[in-house]
Amino acid sequence: MQENTIYEDVISQLLNRRYAVSNQLFPEETLLGLYEELCRQENEDELRRAGIGNRFNFEVNKTVRSDEIKWVNNLTEHVAEKNYLTLVSGFTEYLNRTCFTSIKQHEFHYALFSPGAVFKRHLDCFKNDPSRRISMVTYLNPEWKEANGGALRLYLETEEVAVLPTWGTTVIFRSDDLEHEVMPAIEKRYSITGWLK
Ligand code: OGA
Ligand code: MN
Repeated sequence: MQENTIYEDVISQLLNRRYAVSNQLFPEETLLGLYEELCRQENEDELRRAGIGNRFNFEVNKTVRSDEIKWVNNLTEHVAEKNYLTLVSGFTEYLNRTCFTSIKQHEFHYALFSPGAVFKRHLDCFKNDPSRRISMVTYLNPEWKEANGGALRLYLETEEVAVLPTWGTTVIFRSDDLEHEVMPAIEKRYSITGWLK
């Protein structure tokens, strides 16, 4: 599929049902490079317990959120990270051009949810800083089965939707709009998560 067709599909999903799921946004080699980098960070103990809130009201609360993360440097020279961020920028430009958004920045971090780790129901947009506009999560789990758990649960108006964190799946939604929750898994759950601002 051509890039514009993929972007149009994502945008119409967003408009029609408040969230989009695509596995066409990033090529296999980029996903593999990100996965290898996240495994390296895990092995070399570079991941750190994530907090909630931002610099004005930051806290680490394991019952609300128990993943471990590492932020991606926006000026990275790592090939897969660079490709990922370039493709994100391509999507952002398309969005700005066709949907009158004025997104100027992005921030991404790797995340590892160890077995049992959760992120309770929340909105991504901070109360004291509404800059996060679009949330985006790409899953990096080579073989994920439904029985592993670890779904991303999306709280829609009349139903709850579960998205499985399968290899290359990307979920996109508005950061101020959609409450969501990460359910516990029985296996390690890898992803790269970020926000368009
Ligand atoms: C987050 C988040 C979702 C996921 O990091 O804010 O909601 O599926 N992640 O990992
Ligand atoms: Mn979230």
